[in-house]
Amino acid sequence: MKITVTGGDVTSESAEVAIVLSPIGEAFPNAIAAAFRPSDFESKPNQTLVAYPAGGVSRVVLVGIGERASITTESLRQAAATGIREARRFGASTVTIGAIGGLDVDGLDATAAGEALAVGLELGAYRYLEHRTGLPDDETFAISDVTVLVDDSSVDDVAAGVGVGQTISAGVLLARELVNTPPEHKTPPQLAQRAVELGERTSGVTVTVLDETQLADQGFGGIIAVGKASSSPPRFIIMEYGENLPEVPTICIVGKGITFDSGGLNIKPEEGMLHMKNDMGGSAAVIGIMQVVAELGLPVHLVGLVPSAENMLAGNSYRPGDIVKTLSGKTIEILNTDAEGRVILSDALFYAQRYEPAAIIDLATLTGAVIVALGNFATGVMATDQPLADAILAASVVSGDRAWQLPLWDDYHDMVKGEVGDLKNLAGRPGGSITAGAFLAAFAGDYPFCHLDIAGTAWVDAPNKPYLSKGGTGSGVRLVVEYLRTLTA
Ligand code: BES
Ligand code: MN
Ligand code: ZN
Repeated sequence: MKITVTGGDVTSESAEVAIVLSPIGEAFPNAIAAAFRPSDFESKPNQTLVAYPAGGVSRVVLVGIGERASITTESLRQAAATGIREARRFGASTVTIGAIGGLDVDGLDATAAGEALAVGLELGAYRYLEHRTGLPDDETFAISDVTVLVDDSSVDDVAAGVGVGQTISAGVLLARELVNTPPEHKTPPQLAQRAVELGERTSGVTVTVLDETQLADQGFGGIIAVGKASSSPPRFIIMEYGENLPEVPTICIVGKGITFDSGGLNIKPEEGMLHMKNDMGGSAAVIGIMQVVAELGLPVHLVGLVPSAENMLAGNSYRPGDIVKTLSGKTIEILNTDAEGRVILSDALFYAQRYEPAAIIDLATLTGAVIVALGNFATGVMATDQPLADAILAASVVSGDRAWQLPLWDDYHDMVKGEVGDLKNLAGRPGGSITAGAFLAAFAGDYPFCHLDIAGTAWVDAPNKPYLSKGGTGSGVRLVVEYLRTLTA
């Protein structure tokens, strides 16, 4: 989508379709007010109404945005997404967008507003149609050009924000696309190939992939154990950006890359297995974040690590009762082959320590228990370092990529201590997300560590925001990118 910012008034510039964001109580320009019954439209957030005014604009898609005083970047994202979806059905490839009374909002700078609008437009317009055939034009139609109309004085600032918003959105959409891809098309070697392609097209990103022989030789026992029953062998993907930048912090981001989770011998029931192609949502986010950070040129040394395997069943499956020797040398007693995420992540988190990073952050669709706790509305945050958790939580508020902290008290660490092995990969249902987080923390050494359980947010069946669509959401990309921006500001 091409987004252009120019000076002008969205209610009077000529356009085939104008998306007009409407704050409560703001007077409608006469031409628009005459084209509908004002009592039919209260400007409540994401309320819409289509009007046909006389004059330059042939169709107006009114989108409510609530009280002007309470407009936030999140309400702008949602309103832009609502507007672009509504506008699509008119089949006009070019649309304009702006707000009655302009975009000026107290406490919101023009750049942030531009970024939010672009994110809302780009994410709101996304659909996954890769494998649909024979759809009628009105179902595949995509708006190609959007003109954002703002006050002459804020054109440059809004345009700067739009550029950043589009770069961030491209990373989110890359993550969505990877999550939505059928598991047969994103086996660990294919996922690694996608990362290699990212490195080829993005200057400053280098990508190294370890294959199953290298993993076995170098002692990645967790990844090997989980991946060995699949006919697609496991991989370990190392992406690096900014290693030569002077005086920048090193941050490691680690993404769970289970390309399909059958549960293994502890096989999942029908409903549990249904969407398990999304079990690489963490790795998709890491790949998306690497792209965004490199394209924005952020001053950070960022290392992206993805352990990738397919959790399948075969005669050589790893079993309950097996002892897995991980890269760290610590042993894990397998009590349930469906708790595989923590087993592959143990190798990757230990590997991260070699970079002596300022922080290690992992993103993983790790536990169903986090959905029980938070629903699909927020990512679970567990951290061994409160300043790191606070920075992540602050980034979640700014980005609208919601996150909520759960405690990591010693009690939980005790629950994952093993008997036959050093740790056990199952600690019962109570506190299931947190014991998983405690398990991971055992492999991050003394480095500040933050675990993001995105099991509830990486995928939605019923989108709960206008800029989400059914399927992959790209959750975690906006969150961690925002964290990295504030870190280096
Ligand atoms: N990939 C699942 C977690 C998951 C559940 C992700 C729902 C997305 C949606 C994970 O590997 C898993 O199976 N976890 C088990 C852990 C249990 C065996 C301790 C779970 O949550 O039931
Ligand atoms: Mn599992
Ligand atoms: Zn899993």
